[in-house]
Amino acid sequence: MSRQDGLSTAAAPPPVAVEPMQQAAASPAGGAWLAAEQIERQYDAPSANDAPPTRALASTSLRVDAGEFVCVVGPSGCGKTTLLRILGGLLRPTRGQVIFKGKLLTGPQQEIGYVFQHANLMPWRTVLRNVALPLELQHRPAEEIQARAQAVLKLVGLQGFEHSYPRQLSGGMAQRAALARTLVHAPELLLLDEPFGALDAITRERMNLELLGIRQAYACTAIMVTHSISEAVFLADRVLVMSQRPGRIVAQIAVPLPSPRTLELMGAADFASLTSEVRRAIDRQQA
Ligand SMILES: Nc1ncnc2c1ncn2[C@@H]1O[C@H](COP(=O)(O)OP(=O)(O)O)[C@@H](O)[C@H]1O
Ligand SMILES: [Mg+2]
Repeated sequence: MSRQDGLSTAAAPPPVAVEPMQQAAASPAGGAWLAAEQIERQYDAPSANDAPPTRALASTSLRVDAGEFVCVVGPSGCGKTTLLRILGGLLRPTRGQVIFKGKLLTGPQQEIGYVFQHANLMPWRTVLRNVALPLELQHRPAEEIQARAQAVLKLVGLQGFEHSYPRQLSGGMAQRAALARTLVHAPELLLLDEPFGALDAITRERMNLELLGIRQAYACTAIMVTHSISEAVFLADRVLVMSQRPGRIVAQIAVPLPSPRTLELMGAADFASLTSEVRRAIDRQQA
């Protein structure tokens, strides 16, 4: 793989000196680390329009333990992004609540990082300055900003591209930069909304491997929306399947595959039977 693609050939990037991810605080008695309790969401139609509101998410509950990697799959438009935005505190549920580390989630948190489907880098800033931006906004000392931004860029395999502009990056490299911008806060919870959906299959597999490495190095918890069943099974400890809109979780499939995972695993019989199980759960929704 050429360096120009910004792809490292290592299965997982080595840990580097970014601020260590804090281990999850113990949640209150019997409580989950992250819990959504009967959350619902509807979107009002624009005021000039008499159309009824859109019910995006039906009553949905879920629990995620610290350190888990959970993937969410479901038909297009079923409310996956809506669910993820609510879990990230970016959108309020119309009903229900989210409890994060024992507290009611009422807005965005620094411990929660969000990676969007599109990199949305600022074209006039270099890669380094895009990644540094969240820390600049917090008025952190210049040396700290530089050190942390450089460290996460190394972690995502963008060393050597610090001074490139977004227009000079491939799609995979832009998503790496977006991931670095989120990781610069060392989030405890990483939410990813189809982050690799626009990438070619080979780059995507490489990104999946590196994402597992990052998660392992920093012991973070991750929830990722994807439309790829094999990606979900490859990455996750648990796959949640959503129904058609208004979405709700209709199945959860545990993925007891060994770690660390390698791409060869995708050829194994266990892998095939798990992907079939997820596919059947999705098909039942569409029948
Ligand atoms: N801001 C919004 N205003 C109105 N309707 C929305 C808004 N965001 C999403 N929706 C609608 O809610 C439904 C679920 O959307 P979304 O959560 O983006 O689904 P998914 O991510 O599964 O494709 C869709 O019908 C979509 O059109
Ligand atoms: Mg979406």
